[in-house]
Amino acid sequence: MLSKIHTAGLMGIDGFMVEVQTDISNGMPSIEIIGLAGMAIKESKERTRSSVKNSGFSIPQKRITINMAPAATHKEGSHYDLPITVSVLCASGQLSIPDPDHTLFIGEMALDGSISPVTGVLPMVISAFTNGFTKFFVPVENADEAAIIEGAEIYPVKNLRALADHLAGLNKIQAHKTDISELYKANPEFMIDLADVKGQAQAKRALEIAASGSHNILLCGPAGTGKSMIAQRLCTILPDMTFDEMLEVTKIHSIAGILPEKSPLITVRPFRNPHNNASAAALSGGGKVPKPGELSLAHNGVLFLDELPEFNRDALEVLRQPLEDGRVTISRVNATLTYPCNIMLVCAMNPCKCGNYGSRNKICTCTQREIERYRSRISGPLMDRIDIQVDVPSVEYNELSSAKKGESSAIVRERVNKARKIQTERYKDIPGINSNSQLTAGMLQKYCRLDKSADSLLRSAFNALGLSARAHSKILKVARTIADLAGSENITDAHIAEAIQYRNMDRQRHIQ
Ligand SMILES: Nc1ncnc2c1ncn2[C@@H]1O[C@H](COP(=O)(O)OP(=O)(O)O)[C@@H](O)[C@H]1O
Ligand SMILES: [Mg+2]
Ligand SMILES: [Zn+2]
Repeated sequence: MLSKIHTAGLMGIDGFMVEVQTDISNGMPSIEIIGLAGMAIKESKERTRSSVKNSGFSIPQKRITINMAPAATHKEGSHYDLPITVSVLCASGQLSIPDPDHTLFIGEMALDGSISPVTGVLPMVISAFTNGFTKFFVPVENADEAAIIEGAEIYPVKNLRALADHLAGLNKIQAHKTDISELYKANPEFMIDLADVKGQAQAKRALEIAASGSHNILLCGPAGTGKSMIAQRLCTILPDMTFDEMLEVTKIHSIAGILPEKSPLITVRPFRNPHNNASAAALSGGGKVPKPGELSLAHNGVLFLDELPEFNRDALEVLRQPLEDGRVTISRVNATLTYPCNIMLVCAMNPCKCGNYGSRNKICTCTQREIERYRSRISGPLMDRIDIQVDVPSVEYNELSSAKKGESSAIVRERVNKARKIQTERYKDIPGINSNSQLTAGMLQKYCRLDKSADSLLRSAFNALGLSARAHSKILKVARTIADLAGSENITDAHIAEAIQYRNMDRQRHIQ
C-alpha cells in the first residue's frame, strides 16, 4: 500500500511543500529513505522504529521505501520525523488520516514517541496555508506561533499515541487558538528612556532623525560620554511595526529558534547588539542546517555595533553588500539561500585607541599616527553606508548634575511615528521602499527636489567640504527626513543645513 503525507521544508524564510510517500512491498525487511534527504532525516529511521514500537504500533517486517518529494530539492532537519512515522503507519494500515491532502505534519520525535519542538514552524505553516492546507499537527511548544495564522486549525501533539487517539476519534485534541489582539501591544514598555540621557541634545536629535527615516548612524566621541547609553535607547523611539513586518521578523526568529516563550508574535522592532568578537559567519548566518545571522535577526529593526573599530575586519566587510541590498545571501554546497535584512545600522566609536581624543577633561596619549590607524580600521565603503555621523562630546558638569528631565521616549516616538507615516503614504506605490533611507538615485530627483536657495547652499557646501557624490545623496535623503519631521512638503535651506552637519567625518577627512 502506498501512502502520501504532507509536510514542509524551508528555503530561506519561506516554506516549500514536501510529500512523504511510503511504499511497503515484499522483500528483505528494511527501511530506505530517498529524495535528497540530509543526515538528520536519514537518522529519522531509527527514531521512527523506536517511537512506533513504544507507542503500541509495529513496523511491518517488509521492504519499506520512503520517498521525499520533490526529489530535486535538498531537505534537512529533524521535523520530518513525525510525517515520516505517520506515513509508515498509514502505509501499513495502522493509521488513517481523514483529509490527508489538507493536513500537514511537523515534529521531531524522541524514542518514546513524544514529540519535541522544532524551528521554523511559522514560515512552514504560512506557506502551507497559502497552498490550501488547513489542518496542522505541530509540537505543543510550537502551537502558539503556528496559531498566529488566522483560519489555520492548529493541533498541538504531545506524542504519537495522542495523535493516534485523536485520529481514531477516541480522545480529540482541541484546536489551539492564539489571541492576536492580546499579543499586539502598540505601545511597548521599556525599562530605559531617552530622558535618562543628560545633555547631548545634538546626538539625541540625530537619533530621532535616524529612527524617523531608518538612516544608518554613527556616534563618535570620547569614552564615557554616553554613546552606548544613547544607542541602546534607540529601540524606545522606533516607529511601530505593521503586522506584515511583525510576521516577517517572527518568521526569522522562528527559524533561528529564538522566539520568546509565551509571546509568539514579535511586536517590537528587534535590537541586536553582537559583541565585537563576532565572526563574519555569526553576522551573516549560515551553517549546515542554515540559520539566520545577526544581520537577519535585526531585520526591520536595529543592528548596533558598539566599539566599531574593535570588530574584525572580515566581519565588517561582510556587512557591505547586505546593507546595500537589504538581504544577505549565503552560499552552501547544495543551494544558495537568501534571508532579508532590511536594517538600521547603528555604530558607536571612540575617536582614538585610548578613547580620550577630544575629551574636555582627559588627555589623549595616542600619537597622530595611532589615531589615524585607529580610524582607518573602518573602511571607506562601510563609512559610505552611513547616512548620519554625529559627535558625542564630553558633557558639562552642569548638565550631568541638572535635575531637569529631558524629553521622554514616548514623546519622541510620537514624532517619529508621524514622520514615518508620511513616508509610508508617499512611497505606498513603490514596492520595497518604506523610508527615505531606501530611496534610489533615480527617486531622489522626484522626492528630494530643492528650491533655488537650498540648492545653492548644498552646492557651496559640496565644494567647500569636497563631498563625494555619495555624501551628496545622503544629505538629500536626511534632509527629506528632517523636512518630514517638520511636516514640511518642501526641503528648505534649514533642512539642508542641518543635514550637512551630519557629515562630520567627511569634514574631518577633508581638513586633515
Ligand atoms: N549624557 C549622559 N547622561 C547621563 N549619564 C551619562 C551620560 N554620559 C555618560 N553617562 C554615564 O556614564 C556611563 C557610561 O556611558 P557610556 O554610554 O557607556 O559611554 P560611552 O559609550 O560613550 O563610552 C553611563 O552608563 C551613564 O551612567
Ligand atoms: Mg560605549
Ligand atoms: Zn587617544
